Amino acid sequence: DGEVAARIVGLLRGYPDHPRPGVVFQDLSPLYAEPGLLAELADRADALFAGAYDRVLAVESRGFVLGAVIAARRGVPLTLARKPGKLPGATHQAAYTLEYGTDSLELQRDAVAPGDRVLVVDDVLATGGTLAAVAELVAAADAKVAGMAVVVELTGLGGAERLADHRVAALSEVA
Ligand code: PRP
Ligand code: HPA
Repeated sequence: DGEVAARIVGLLRGYPDHPRPGVVFQDLSPLYAEPGLLAELADRADALFAGAYDRVLAVESRGFVLGAVIAARRGVPLTLARKPGKLPGATHQAAYTLEYGTDSLELQRDAVAPGDRVLVVDDVLATGGTLAAVAELVAAADAKVAGMAVVVELTGLGGAERLADHRVAALSEVA
């Protein structure tokens, strides 16, 4: 709701030209330092998708923070989508372009069962490249994206449009 969103936005700190010139990097560190807030945000995200998901898929690395708390509080399995070369065994892979570079993500092939309803969690939605790649990983596993939850959506970068096929919940928005 608006009150939580305003609280999040009030705690964000924007750093011009990080990590590349022209990018204003929104730092969530002050938010994580706020006692009790992370649990509150996790419960809020969970409530938006309650009953609609069977597991959490958290995105390396900053998506691990909220994703782990949601999974722990709801009592569902936690799966990690990781940067290349980190996960052992056979993986699905998806490449993507980022606001400041390109990368790819992997998912262990046996981590998500066909038909699983997956809640994808990250800290920030910017261009949507990362979450679109994660959606590809979920599809490759024959599972379903139940929804996507982020702490902050950076508006004006086309992320929401790019993810229009999905239920995306941003707990706050910053221009
Ligand atoms: C950041 C952020 C999101 C993504 C958002 O991760 O945590 O995952 O970028 O950008 P997008 O919507 O344009 O894809 P980053 O790749 O910097 O990795 P990190 O979490 O490991 O720092
Ligand atoms: N802040 C934090 N994470 C991000 C950003 C940002 O501005 N852009 C892409 N990921």
